[in-house]
Amino acid sequence: MKVIKVKNYEEASQKAFEIFRDQVKEKPDSILGLATGSTPIRMYELLAEDHKVNGTSYKNVHTFNLDEYYGLAPTHPQSYYYFMTEHLFKFLDIDLNNVNVPKGNQDIQAECDRYNTMLAENQIDLQLLGIGSNGHIGFNEPGTPFDSVTHYIELDESTRKDNARLFFDGVLEDVPTHAVTMGIKNIMEAKRVVLIACGDNKATAIKGLVEDEPTTSLPASILSTHPDFTLIIDEGAASKLDK
Ligand code: F6R
Repeated sequence: MKVIKVKNYEEASQKAFEIFRDQVKEKPDSILGLATGSTPIRMYELLAEDHKVNGTSYKNVHTFNLDEYYGLAPTHPQSYYYFMTEHLFKFLDIDLNNVNVPKGNQDIQAECDRYNTMLAENQIDLQLLGIGSNGHIGFNEPGTPFDSVTHYIELDESTRKDNARLFFDGVLEDVPTHAVTMGIKNIMEAKRVVLIACGDNKATAIKGLVEDEPTTSLPASILSTHPDFTLIIDEGAASKLDK
């Protein structure tokens, strides 16, 4: 595991941006694994700015998002498809036919099977992750087996509260109770993984990831066994580390 410790969110976003931009420049037909949530927003702004100013092209890039809320159509303003369009895709020259976000409003088992087949045929070159305050990656909540593939999952109360605070105007009842998420095995199959964690509320999860043995009670802890894993943390997220 490579750990990059920076001062704050801006610096973390800058580091992650550089890694993703370089990946696309070096391999213009890269397959990128993408995340939603508050963490990648600034990195996506930087990618959009770089595309506009320097012309880095996404014409041949394919993307796979980690997850989607169950029951929301892609046109719903709180859906992750909508999030990706508004924060990234509409600013790039990416072909929307090359964009993959699991669909939360379909026959869910058929959709999980479809996504797993696509992932088996398209190894992700570089996967971006955030981390839940409970240590989840994607929507793989504590207790999810490490060999899980794309599946339907009930969200933890803590996850729904975190997401209500950030995205649903604080209205917990509006946050879907279930989601569809890439499994931990799918994530671990990416060639390279980058996780950004910022803020004190991520410090306990980061301490477990860096200092403890992998355990399903902290899903992100398995990443310490990935052969090419980079962790970008700010001072808040690093605040409970002993070393
Ligand atoms: C989002 C996702 C989640 C988030 C995590 C952190 O697609 O898979 O694992 O990365 O919940 O969310 P933020 O960045 O809002 O703290």
